[in-house]
Formats: sequence, C-alpha cells, structure tokens
Amino acid sequence: MVIVMDADATSGDIAAAVDAVTATGGEAYVSRGTSRTLIAVGGDTAQVPPPELQALPGVADVVGVSAPYKLVSRESHSARTVVRVADATIGGGAPALIAGPCAVETPEQTLAAARMAATAGASLLRGGAYKPRTSPYAFQGLGEAGLKILADVRDATGLPIVTEVLDAADVDLVASYADMLQIGTRNMQNFALLRAVGQAGLPVLLKRGMNATIEEWLMAAEYIAQSGTLDIVLCERGIRTFEKATRNTLDISAVAVAQQLSHLPVIVDPSHSGGQRRLVLPLSRAALAVGADGVIVDVHPTPETALCDGPQALVEEDLAPLREMLETLPSALGRARP
Ligand code: E4P
Ligand code: PEP
Repeated sequence: MVIVMDADATSGDIAAAVDAVTATGGEAYVSRGTSRTLIAVGGDTAQVPPPELQALPGVADVVGVSAPYKLVSRESHSARTVVRVADATIGGGAPALIAGPCAVETPEQTLAAARMAATAGASLLRGGAYKPRTSPYAFQGLGEAGLKILADVRDATGLPIVTEVLDAADVDLVASYADMLQIGTRNMQNFALLRAVGQAGLPVLLKRGMNATIEEWLMAAEYIAQSGTLDIVLCERGIRTFEKATRNTLDISAVAVAQQLSHLPVIVDPSHSGGQRRLVLPLSRAALAVGADGVIVDVHPTPETALCDGPQALVEEDLAPLREMLETLPSALGRARP
C-alpha cells in the first residue's frame, strides 16, 4: 500500500499519516520528491485501515500496489515524475541533455568540456571525481580535488553538476559539492550506498547494473525511495551480452518497459553502451524515438589524451549535430521540444 500525499500536504499531515500507520502495527517509509510525497506502508498491514488513512488531512489517495517496488511503481502514481536539479528538469516532456567529461582531470579540461556541453545544449554537467575502474592501476579520479573543480566550473558556467559516489562513507562529502548524485552500474546493488544516497536529500541518477534485470533495477530505485528520496532518474547504459561489437548492448526496450512500470524519468547513456564516438548520435536518436526522457553523453576537448573512456567521448564537431538532433527530432516524433 502507498499513501499519496497532496502536493501541499504539511509536515504535520505527513507525520499524522505516519502515526496512523505505525499505531495500527504497520511500518511507514516517507519518500519526498520535488512534486510529491509518498509513504510506503510495510510490515504487518492487516490492521491498517485504508479508509481511515484516506480521510486524514493532506492525503490525496491510498493505493494498493501489487509490484514489489511500491514507491517507484507506476501503480502508486500514474502521473510521470519530473525531477528538478537546480534549474534543470528531467522528465515530463522535452528530452534533457546531460554532458561532460567521463572523468574530471584538470580545471582546464573540465571547463572546456563544460563549455562543449553548453554548446550542445546541455542543462546539466556530468563528470566523475571518483572513478570505478576495472583495473586498480587505472586512473581512479581526483577525489575531493575533482569535486572542487566541478564546483568551480559550475560557478563559471551555471551548469548544475551530477557526479558519481562510490562509497557510502563519501556520500556527505560528495553531496556537499554536487547537485545530483550518480550511482554507477557497478554499484546498482550496493544496498548500503543506495540507502545512504537516499538519505542525502539530493536527486539521484541511478544507472542500471550491467547484469541487472529491469525488476532488479527498479528494486534498487526502491531502496533509494524508501530511504527518503523520490527524485530518482533511471539510466539505461547497456547490459552485458555475447555481442562484442559494442562495449555493452543498449537495451532500448528497457526504456519503454521501465517507463511503463515506473513513474520515474528514464534516460539513456549512449556513450557507455556503444563505447564508440560514432555510435553516440545513432543511439541517442534511438533513445529519443523510444521515448527516453533524455541522454547523458561524454564529451572531451582532447579525447586522445583522456584518462578514461576517450574513444566514446564526443568532440567539438559532434556538438552541432547533437544539438540539432535534440532540437528537431522531438517535434518530428510528436514530442515536446527542448
Ligand atoms: C567510466 O566512467 C568507468 O569508470 C569506466 O567505464 C570504467 O571502465 P574501465 O575501467 O573498464 O575502463
Ligand atoms: C560514468 O557514467 O561515469 C560511469 C562510470 O558509467 P557506468 O556506471 O554506466 O559504467
């Protein structure tokens, strides 16, 4: 069961709904988003009476949810969620562009990549200060020094930043610099980390685990939602298959499925899925055509010197075609334009 609070429900209304659940033996998990607050009801719910909950002030609806992921399920709320990150919005119409370097390397490289992102029409800057690398000998990111560079570049460009956090112990530090926290494919089922980011009070970008089913991905989102944050953006970034021609196989059907099963926005990462610059635009077109709420792409001023994932980074000459595609394709598809 999920209690849907009115958009203007007060903290007193929310507390009263929680008390009504716990007083009758249930457990209540409050999940707050920019546009709405939901309360998941768990535990022994046999004695929790939906009609009495429905009558409480500030309660818009009490919904039975059959999916195991209650708060992020489309059943709990049929309207699609719009996630706001500073002035940027993801979901609810025009596709969003998030762009930036795979890794923060230097102030100059990050600023140049951010300017490239802005040229392409991005509303959010991506960039990793903590990099999850296959090899322990590979560049691991600049850590807090990288976060400081990102914050300086945000000041210089006005672009809010989304950056990955790898460890629950780092969540407060990363959250003190970031506008949105990213959970990468490798950590999609790191439950302690999911809980920690859910408590951080920032929107979360949740990438699909490369070996995860769509249901496992939504259950990971549920961990974040149950911990307090409903402002979650799902990101399909390719899965492991037998195919070797691409770095990962972009599961384009997962976008449509996830949007049907969940009210959360779903975006696509054509850079980490294709793994090659020349695939980024075609896969972005596919993402928009299937209805994705946006794309997140790597850009780099000098990919040949990049410390991480250079071959998949877009270069200067790719930016105008990307921007044009994002500006024209949505209306051709009958979607809202950015
Ligand atoms: C990217 O952002 C990841 O850190 C990167 O894709 C990791 O892959 P690799 O370490 O296998 O190169
Ligand atoms: C990234 O976007 O920087 C990243 C590490 O991606 P993924 O987790 O999808 O590999």
